[in-house]
Amino acid sequence: MPNPPAPKKVSFIVYFIGFTAALAGLLFGLDVGVISGAQHFIEQDFKIGDKEIEIIVSALLWGAVFGTLISGVLSSHFGRRRTILVSAVIFVIGSLACSMAHNEHTLIISRFFLGIAVGVASFTAPLYLSEIAPRTVRGSMISMYQLMITIGIVLAFLSDTWLASYATFGGVTGGHWRVMLGIIAIPAAVMFTGVLFLPESPRWLFLKGFKEHAVNVFKRMHLDDVEIAAEVQEIEDSMKVKQNGFQMFLKNSNFRRAIGLGIGLQIIQQLTGINVVMYYAPKIFALAGFENVSEQMWGTVIVGITNVLATFIAIAFVDRLGRKPIMYAGFLVMGLALLTVGLLFNMDIEKNPGLGYPAIGALLVFIVGFAMSAGPIIWVICSEIYPLAGRDLGVTCSTATNWISNAIVGQTFLTMLATFGGGNTFLLYGGLNALFIIFFVIFVPETKGISLEQIERNLMSGRILRKIGR
Ligand code: BGC
Repeated sequence: MPNPPAPKKVSFIVYFIGFTAALAGLLFGLDVGVISGAQHFIEQDFKIGDKEIEIIVSALLWGAVFGTLISGVLSSHFGRRRTILVSAVIFVIGSLACSMAHNEHTLIISRFFLGIAVGVASFTAPLYLSEIAPRTVRGSMISMYQLMITIGIVLAFLSDTWLASYATFGGVTGGHWRVMLGIIAIPAAVMFTGVLFLPESPRWLFLKGFKEHAVNVFKRMHLDDVEIAAEVQEIEDSMKVKQNGFQMFLKNSNFRRAIGLGIGLQIIQQLTGINVVMYYAPKIFALAGFENVSEQMWGTVIVGITNVLATFIAIAFVDRLGRKPIMYAGFLVMGLALLTVGLLFNMDIEKNPGLGYPAIGALLVFIVGFAMSAGPIIWVICSEIYPLAGRDLGVTCSTATNWISNAIVGQTFLTMLATFGGGNTFLLYGGLNALFIIFFVIFVPETKGISLEQIERNLMSGRILRKIGR
């Protein structure tokens, strides 16, 4: 994607729209991140073990799978704005329900319910942003959404740390897991209030026949007549292509190949093991010999900050160096880093406490490898490889796959630790990362600087996947 030319004039309302919709990304990150710091206290309070914790962690992710699958229908039927509004309501109720859960069962149900909001928001907010952002700022608005997810994760880690060790409520200092889960209702309520003032997506209004209303939205965003005409032209052009993904899936093997590639990429993104760290970082710090809860929490904050900062590397280089070189570098770094973590964990850390530091160092290198490559870029490639008429179905399939594999990874980590030991678990993830490089060599195209139309033509003419890009 070349950088868009500087906007002539971007009005306050456009920033307001971008910020409010990107809050959905923040909430997504908050809900993903919050559980790592809370689980230790939940475990103690409910007197439960690893199996239940795994289910509590992954319930949100299964909810997100469900949320993603219903989003297409909801957002096309009720409109993008109302769908985001519904997700904000679920975010508020879900967060409060989690914080009031009186046993593991109600917590699992509440996390599933909350996950529906995460799934709906993760599908609808980027869609809304891509449809409403004026062309001149579209790229930066969508990157902002991605960045907000990582910022949400780190904010959750920070608030968990404060509530775990420092905050005093009712005479008790620390351990406030209910507040950790409940406090997310506040940003959710802010998002709800903000979304009330957002206009509907002009593209959706067009699709439903409210052309004048759509033009009014552009006027509200202070676009001038020339800009409005260009936006309208683009919407009309894209509406000529009817979404018929299901038909296409049944009839066209080239489309099925693209769907397979998107699914493969998302499975790979999750099998890097990134969310093992996002959900269980304090447990990993404990394995590295950091027994003190406060140390574990601060370590987790460093993980989150590293994740945010390294995302900028991808943003800076994805359009300059291309997707594939960054992916090779990222996966090599991730593979070597996790193999190092595995080898160090297999040495006796209890007897050699000095080994804990290099192990955590290697874990942070892994985070850098992910955030600079697979984190953002797999989402980028998945948005580029589907032919226009099947894009909705394609994105639904790859996003749902992301959440399904995410849930499986979240639900198996503690069992893997107990079965194979920490060292071997990380060796396994490290080995997988190294192996995935072969997948990139064989199947993944370089899509830098090539139009989506050209990618579509190459795919549909039957070229091998690796060659549908440049
Ligand atoms: C992944 C998430 C992950 C996040 C971490 C995203 O690209 O899809 O599963 O939690 O990166 O920053």
